[in-house]
Amino acid sequence: MKTAITELFGIEHPIIQGGMHYVGFAEMAAAVSNAGGLGIITALTQKTPKDLANEIAKCRDMTDKPFGVNITFLPSLTPPDYPAIVKAVIDGGVKVVETAGRNPSQVMPALKDAGIKVIHKCTSVRHSLKAQDIGCDAVSVDGFECGGHPGEDDVPNMILLPRAADELDIPFVASGGQADGRSLVASLAMGADGINMGTRFIATQEAPVHENVKKAIVAASELDTRLVMRPLRNTERVLTNEAVERLLEKERALGADLKFEDIISEVAGVYPRIMMEGDMEAGAWSCGMVAGLIYDIPTCAELIERIMSEADQIINERLAGFLETRVPA
Ligand SMILES: Cc1cc2nc3c(=O)[nH]c(=O)nc-3n(C[C@H](O)[C@H](O)[C@H](O)COP(=O)(O)O)c2cc1C
Repeated sequence: MKTAITELFGIEHPIIQGGMHYVGFAEMAAAVSNAGGLGIITALTQKTPKDLANEIAKCRDMTDKPFGVNITFLPSLTPPDYPAIVKAVIDGGVKVVETAGRNPSQVMPALKDAGIKVIHKCTSVRHSLKAQDIGCDAVSVDGFECGGHPGEDDVPNMILLPRAADELDIPFVASGGQADGRSLVASLAMGADGINMGTRFIATQEAPVHENVKKAIVAASELDTRLVMRPLRNTERVLTNEAVERLLEKERALGADLKFEDIISEVAGVYPRIMMEGDMEAGAWSCGMVAGLIYDIPTCAELIERIMSEADQIINERLAGFLETRVPA
């Protein structure tokens, strides 16, 4: 399949693995890229820019296909050393960067000067247009159903994607709720040029996370995610567990008085405990509603091949079949 996204990034299939904290290591990115998609290393999971440089080098040893790096801008009192992160990306010869969290204008000149393609992930049409204005090459449009940070507008992809198509000139991928060939074809129908998946890629053989995380995703239904940190305007969609229900109880009790310090034990430093140790009650971790559509733990190659052959079947048989039944004029 050839789309503006496969052409832009030089990949075989229009499928991207979004940056994921404590998941987006070299093993994950290389597995997706080797399967013909675009794998992405998550910069902020690496403790230092030097570690990031090593992770990029490791990924390059594992694949000769294009891969990217995610740079997330978080609200933080002690921000990461973004210039050093950008330098590690450029020096490592990475050709694609996924930005997220905030407007990436501070890193755009350096990335563009290095000839790097930038895809910005955002949750609204207005932020997508802003990304286009500041020179991003593509947008990842993240609907309300997505795992991670869906923003505060709560517009699901059935509306957000066609709205983005109506407004944008640059290509975009559909992010949030994507799992299979149906997702891909529906997203293409709504104007996207590909899909970005997070949760679905965690439940794969190569995802470098504890088996408990993969099993939790397979066991979860579409009813099992919760929105946390809404009162702080830092909404995150997470899989429910005891810590998440405790956190929500605090949010209800404290109302507008809630501060980050009140929920620190449920959200701070929990990713390594969950992703590496498999301590599923450690706290809140991002997971999309799409968990309800995830029934197995295939390899990345099996998953991507299945998505592409399902898409082919839907387009050429199911959809074409509807047209064939029309009486010719
Ligand atoms: C466990 C997990 C961690 C994530 N961490 C990040 C992150 O650090 N930076 C980022 O931009 N997006 C992050 N995301 C969001 C994904 O890149 C992607 O946009 C999202 O998962 C898409 O929704 P889906 O899960 O329904 O596929 C994370 C998602 C998950 C599930």
